[in-house]
Amino acid sequence: MYETAVTVIGLGPMGQALAGAFLEAGHRTTVWNRTAAKIDPFVARGAIRAETASSAFAASPLAVVCVRDDAAVHATLGSTPPTGAALVNLTSSSPAQARGRAEWAAAQGIGYVDGAILTPTPSIGTPTAFVLYSGAEQVYDAYRDTLASLGGTATYLGADPGRAAGYDTALLDIFWSAVSGIVHGIALAGAEGISGRDIAPYAQGIFGLLPEMMGRFARQSDARDYPGERSTVDSALAGIEHIIATAESHRIDVGALTASKAVIARAVAAGHGKDGLARLVDTLRS
Ligand SMILES: NC(=O)c1ccc[n+]([C@@H]2O[C@H](COP(=O)([O-])OP(=O)(O)OC[C@H]3O[C@@H](n4cnc5c(N)ncnc54)[C@H](OP(=O)(O)O)[C@@H]3O)[C@@H](O)[C@H]2O)c1
Repeated sequence: MYETAVTVIGLGPMGQALAGAFLEAGHRTTVWNRTAAKIDPFVARGAIRAETASSAFAASPLAVVCVRDDAAVHATLGSTPPTGAALVNLTSSSPAQARGRAEWAAAQGIGYVDGAILTPTPSIGTPTAFVLYSGAEQVYDAYRDTLASLGGTATYLGADPGRAAGYDTALLDIFWSAVSGIVHGIALAGAEGISGRDIAPYAQGIFGLLPEMMGRFARQSDARDYPGERSTVDSALAGIEHIIATAESHRIDVGALTASKAVIARAVAAGHGKDGLARLVDTLRS
């Protein structure tokens, strides 16, 4: 006995995880992908093959699209006159792209919800999955039970279709800044003859400090109050200078550090050297 019928458009690693989760949950699942060979294993698992994106869209009351980016969504659906009832777009995009996509959907008479998947492919269909949604509330309410097949936590953030992408973009900003720090730190350690394995436990200790810092900075930034009793912007300027000098001495790229130093120096120049580091949020805005 099938649950809701659902279409998955896009069978990259994430689309495959989504289609797999819908199939596992017993939904009648239609699939389409630009490269048709990726469809075959899903047909073998019980999915229905669509020959075109538009026939995939028409096959189910709910279509979930998950391709590389908004340009790929456009390439897939833009020139097709979709006739499906509702579209949940789980492609990562900017808030502006999500709002533009919602306008496009409205012009086609399609109910639209934008989503942001915050967790990797192995989480999908398990309790660790985390997906944010925003856009048409009626559409979300109509399909929340079907979308629950993707597992874990689903959070609806309201009618603005760009809101889920806004959260996602800010969170990815934090993530990629951390990735940049990890690779840079390993490179710098290596230049000093310290192996990755030797530095890793200490770096993991630093990461252990960050959850508390995230909450404290967020509170201070919301309150526009930046007490400097733990550490100051003045002190950060001195600290980042010796990191840059060391990296330069090893001919390691200092682009990201130099950009960070410029923000810190701007805060000092504006008279905020005695403030805590959350002050830099304000400096970035000004
Ligand atoms: N993988 C993850 O862990 C993860 C986590 C969170 C969010 N996401 C998001 O999920 C989305 C999909 O990611 P992914 O991991 O599945 O891999 P991906 O490499 O970002 O996307 C691959 C999919 O996009 C399709 N595609 C790319 N360009 C296209 C175009 N011009 N026209 C039509 N289709 C096109 C591919 O079709 P072909 O097979 O024909 O190339 C394939 O179906 C992305 O927005 C990604 O940011 C992924």
